[in-house]
Amino acid sequence: MRLPACLRGLALHLPDTLISDMRKDLHRVVAIDGPAASGKSSVARELARRLGFAYVNSGAIYRAITWHLLQKAIDPGDTPGVGQALESVKIACRLENDDSRIFINDADPTDRLHDGRVNEAVSRVSRVPSVRGIVVRKMRDYARSYNLVVEGRDIGSVVFPATPFKFYIDASPDVRLQRRAAQGQRDEIAARDLADSSRLASPLVIARDAYVIDTSHLTIDQVVGEIIEQLKLKGLAL
Ligand code: CDP
Repeated sequence: MRLPACLRGLALHLPDTLISDMRKDLHRVVAIDGPAASGKSSVARELARRLGFAYVNSGAIYRAITWHLLQKAIDPGDTPGVGQALESVKIACRLENDDSRIFINDADPTDRLHDGRVNEAVSRVSRVPSVRGIVVRKMRDYARSYNLVVEGRDIGSVVFPATPFKFYIDASPDVRLQRRAAQGQRDEIAARDLADSSRLASPLVIARDAYVIDTSHLTIDQVVGEIIEQLKLKGLAL
């Protein structure tokens, strides 16, 4: 789904002094946001490899939490139950073969993260504020130790509003459907996009200072090349 122009710039508007304070402790962060199946993961992974930055797929963390809750038969709509189940959960993100793998209480659900039932439930889980709190803290922790490429929905708007390196990756609805079908997945991406962009907690928006790329007719290499050009223009020393 393409975001209407009225959704642009709904990101947090923070005072410049607060933004420069937030920048002090952090390593460099490149934020890659966009709707489902827009090509974020392939682009973010390749970009991280070329920059020598760590790659974090925040969607995979929301998916791992969703898988964990489904295993425990907790209804994603039961907000207090979700909060309770996650109180002592241990989440770790490791980079293996250029992919970010998420471990939850030492279990590795990588092969289950795109199951139909996870695709169906993840948007309901990710709108729970306590879930968002866990994932956001995790990403900010990583940024204290590493330079990162982070992909998601709210990375430039909410998680790292102070980074000057923000990109919004989009593609036409047809192209996105084709890409997901080519991955052989059962995934109602239009429903997920609607849920993600209309929720109250950190909805999918285009951050006001994000650079937007329509990837419908571009290869991964072309998109990564364009991002690297922009990063140079924005002063990232490469
Ligand atoms: O790969 P795809 O773009 O289909 O989705 P994903 O990045 O794996 O994210 C799965 C779901 O997690 C999204 O539909 C959102 O509901 C949620 N998500 C989020 O709320 N915030 C993020 N920063 C990343 C993902």
